[in-house]
Amino acid sequence: MKTQSPHEYTVSSLIRYGSRELKAHEIDNARLDAEVILSHLLCCRRLDLYVHPDKPVENSVVAIYQDAIQKRGQKVPLQYITHQTEFMSLDFYVDERVLIPRPETELLVETVIEKSKIMSAADEIILVDIGTGSGAIAITLAKKMEKARVFAVDISAGALDVARMNARRHEVLHKITFLCGDTFGPLKEYGLESKVHFIVTNPPYVSSDEFRYLPKEVRDYEPYIALVSGCDGLLIFRRIIAQVKQWLLPSGFLLFEVGERQAQPVIQLLEDRGCFKRPSSIKDYQNIDRIIVAQMEDECGQNCH
Ligand SMILES: C[S@@+](CC[C@H](N)C(=O)[O-])C[C@H]1O[C@@H](n2cnc3c(N)ncnc32)[C@H](O)[C@@H]1O
Repeated sequence: MKTQSPHEYTVSSLIRYGSRELKAHEIDNARLDAEVILSHLLCCRRLDLYVHPDKPVENSVVAIYQDAIQKRGQKVPLQYITHQTEFMSLDFYVDERVLIPRPETELLVETVIEKSKIMSAADEIILVDIGTGSGAIAITLAKKMEKARVFAVDISAGALDVARMNARRHEVLHKITFLCGDTFGPLKEYGLESKVHFIVTNPPYVSSDEFRYLPKEVRDYEPYIALVSGCDGLLIFRRIIAQVKQWLLPSGFLLFEVGERQAQPVIQLLEDRGCFKRPSSIKDYQNIDRIIVAQMEDECGQNCH
């Protein structure tokens, strides 16, 4: 890149440059990432890059591309560079204020949609999403469930700004109330006690020890508060399980996404709590027990109080 002046660059030479740089920084899928960044900057599809490989690229775009490639070389996640990710076939804006939604979380959303089909035809289905982040779960549920009325909570005001922006983009702002605070705290003024059909959450679940061994891309760039939950990673599960009875409708559902090897300890916490029908887990595409589903008893016994 040093011996040529920027205006001499074409689509194909920029892809070659980007791939080379990213390979040198040990980025997996170097060429793919170089292409994604360039197509994002040129506002075209990745395949379109191959239609006009010799097309010259404007100097201003070349400079931004070089900068983006440099960031990617420092392991900044691709999604924070393009400010874009896909979740359940919907486009979400993301930046460093939010965790990048992961494909396994789609399983949580699909399970809620499935369970909602067996609910009697209430006028609205009230859902609470604890730790909404980019709003991926809350927005997708609002979009795909006609009767959904969603309360989306996050402790991070920055994350809620991103979530609101995404809700506006997907035209579901009117179906979601965004609330800033700790777990169920901000729900208190909405009179939702014993009225919630679904409590769903993909909370932070990494232990403070495990955090040190996360890939650099995650550890250095995704929000710490979105990742870590106490010294065993289970702190927020304990806190949610302790409070959940107050909010769920009898027969309402609690759904958690959990980390690897957390399914059994989380099921144990639910069984110790004692007001759920037998909690179960669902495996993700890598055969990891990923989603915990617990339905509250129709009537609760002594342990629940
Ligand atoms: C793992 S991220 C999940 C984001 C999004 N729901 C998703 O699935 O992509 C966890 C989110 O929980 C939020 N959070 C962490 N502690 C919280 C708490 N005590 N109360 C509410 N939200 C919390 C973080 O700010 C973060 O946005």
